[in-house]
Amino acid sequence: MAQAYFLQGRFSETANTIAQARDAATNDAHGRTRSQLGLARSLRALGDQTGALAAAEAAVRAAKDSADVQKFRSLCVQFMGLHSSTFERLEILEHFYDSLFAGLPRIHSVIDVACGLNPLSLPWMPIAGSPAYYAYDIYKDLIDFIGNFVRLAGGQPHVEARDVLHTPPVVRADLAFVLKNVPCFDQIDRAATPLLLDRLDARYVVISFPRQSLGGTGRFLTEQHATRFAELVQGRKWAVSRMEYKTELVFLIDKTETRP
Ligand SMILES: C[S@@+](CC[C@H](N)C(=O)[O-])C[C@H]1O[C@@H](n2cnc3c(N)ncnc32)[C@H](O)[C@@H]1O
Repeated sequence: MAQAYFLQGRFSETANTIAQARDAATNDAHGRTRSQLGLARSLRALGDQTGALAAAEAAVRAAKDSADVQKFRSLCVQFMGLHSSTFERLEILEHFYDSLFAGLPRIHSVIDVACGLNPLSLPWMPIAGSPAYYAYDIYKDLIDFIGNFVRLAGGQPHVEARDVLHTPPVVRADLAFVLKNVPCFDQIDRAATPLLLDRLDARYVVISFPRQSLGGTGRFLTEQHATRFAELVQGRKWAVSRMEYKTELVFLIDKTETRP
């Protein structure tokens, strides 16, 4: 099988498959939505804490070995449903990366900052070949799982458990994701994200915010986050474009284009 089989063999996932996988991922044994649970607790719901990721990895490996692309993608969706950030992205997944990457030159390498389970959406990213995927998260067991996943999905993994707020990545890549991290980073240190954005060595930086508070209050935060984004890029002359999705507010920064 070609290394990039799953990336090149992209097909339009039926809305039905995503809906079914989302339903399967929605409730834990106590009837709570997994979107309301933390990642570690969600993964524990799969089995014992240390065994859960190993079990997930075995399932992904088996799906890949079966050469059943749909099974592989359904499994990705199921696991992405275990973490609130990726869970919320499932309903826009079919067009999210296609529209983000439209108009960009071909992307060969990606940095995913505080990635959570987002690398499991690699099969939906319109990247040809075997992209270098630099992924960082604070959790070691999670990031090891991500490394093995990226390899199975046909990418070249470079993963590291790292506190990206205090030690930002120093690698160079075509594009960097900073997805839904700012509200969390701001609680720790409001000065950290602007420095992180400066340090990221990528022409394109995709920075996003959830459109609804994770507490499920239903309060839409779009303009509050847009104001925060404007503060983050204040004084920088980067070109910025804004995209609004049902569940996510996204800004695409081009560090090489300047605005007046
Ligand atoms: C809100 S989630 C976003 C996940 C992912 N970016 C997405 O949008 O699907 C925040 C993630 O940041 C990670 N994280 C939080 N603080 C971090 C830090 N200082 N360094 C690295 N990762 C961190 C968490 O473990 C979690 O996976």
